Order: sequence, then structure tokens, then C-alpha cells
Amino acid sequence: LEKLVILKMGGSVITNKRIPMAVNLEALDALSVAVSQASTNLLIVHGGGSFGHYYAKQFGLGTELKAVSREGVAKTRSAMLQLNIIVTKILEKQGVYAYSLPPASLVGFGRVAAHGAELLESIMEGGLVPITYGDVLPNHGRYNILSGDSITRMLALCLKADRVVFTSDVDGLYASGNKLVRSIGIRDKFAIDQPDRGLDVTGGMALKLCEAQEIARNGVDVYFVNGLKPERVIKALKGEIVEGSLIRGTRNAR
Ligand code: IPE
Repeated sequence: LEKLVILKMGGSVITNKRIPMAVNLEALDALSVAVSQASTNLLIVHGGGSFGHYYAKQFGLGTELKAVSREGVAKTRSAMLQLNIIVTKILEKQGVYAYSLPPASLVGFGRVAAHGAELLESIMEGGLVPITYGDVLPNHGRYNILSGDSITRMLALCLKADRVVFTSDVDGLYASGNKLVRSIGIRDKFAIDQPDRGLDVTGGMALKLCEAQEIARNGVDVYFVNGLKPERVIKALKGEIVEGSLIRGTRNAR
């Protein structure tokens, strides 16, 4: 497969974090226009924002496997399906033809499904854009939330992506003192400045950094850009220099 770029659409970009079950249509539209300008193979993973996180929080679901309320699982799951349909439809409106897959058909039990890579590559060979999302996943009677950031890491490594672009509603990763860190090493550790965790039931920016460094340790460049600034997303998708944070992929440096 030719160059593959994975784009994580952060829930903080595509939804209104302050209003349950509210899409940020303007941002989603603009982001979709940016995506329509990408000329490489693209795979999209989107987050939960005020859809998934809202019910996950309400019913006490988290990243740890737990026996949880059936109502909570069902409501979190259907909220994510609903958001996925909206995202897929808006992309379609901008001429980005996506093939939506529930994450359970691609990943589970801590790994990528046996046919996962073949499935995704088959879709991309036909010129469509596979799209999946963070979700609530089953594991022998218990459930947990698998963040879109973790799915992005799993798929980036399995498919040997060329580049990964994480988008959120801020300009990149911030260290304490509200300092934007433009260049991050694959093993750099720093306290992340993220005052407003709001609804977040996954790991927020700290998980993002962790997953991103694991991706970069496998030789893949990882960009963090503001998804509310489409021109930055376009640049990052192309691998150009852009306002944001960058972790250069470095192989054999473990
Ligand atoms: C969370 O996915 C999915 C659910 C809460 C069901 P993410 O953790 O990737 O979502 P965002 O991008 O932070 O909103």
C-alpha cells in the first residue's frame, strides 16, 4: 500500500464538549473539507466527545475492564454509532467516501483482529476511507472503553502507517506553565498541562502522549494539531511543517 496517514478526529473538535450529544457541525464540516484535500491513503479514527464520554461517565465506564450496567454499555454504544453516522455523512457531503467499521470488528482483547489489516487494506485499495472510533468493547462478560487514541496506535503499528495526526481543540501538547511543546522526543516525560478534563473517561492528553510515543518508537511521525484550524490539519496530513507538536518517528531507538 502507498503512503498511509491516520487521522484521529478528537471528540473535542467534532462535538460540543459542554452539551451532551451535540455535534460541532461547523468544525466537523471544516475538518471534512481539510480531509477531502488529502491525497494519500487515509484512515480515520474519531473520538467520543460529548456522545460516548457522556454516557460512559454517567454509568461509570472507564478504560479498566469491569462488570458494568447493561444500560450504560448500550447507551454508550448507541451514542457512538449515532456520532459515527453523523461524521460519515458529513464526510460524504464533502466528497470523502468513508467505509465505516465498528472497532469491535478490527480490534479486541488487546490486539488487532487477525483479518484487520487485510480488511482495511482492501477498503483503501478500492479508494475508500476506512473510519472507526473509540468505543465500549466486550471481553468475556466485562466491558471497557477503548479510546480512539489506543485504536489509532494499534492500527498505526499493524498497518505500518507513514504518519499519524492527532487533532484536538488546542494547539498541541502543553507542558506545565501552559507552554506548547513543539518538539517531543520519543522518551521525553513531562507533566501535561490540561486543566479542563471535563467529561473525559479515557486518558486525556496524557494517554495521547503515551500512545503517540509508542507509535513514534516504531518509526512513525506523530503530529498534534488544532483540529479547529483546518489549514493546519491539511499541512499535518501532508507532513509539512505546521504550528503544533511533533514527535519524530525513530526506529531502532528503544
Ligand atoms: C472515547 O474515545 C470513546 C467513548 C467514550 C465511548 P476517545 O477517548 O478517543 O474520545 P475523545 O477524542 O477523547 O473524545
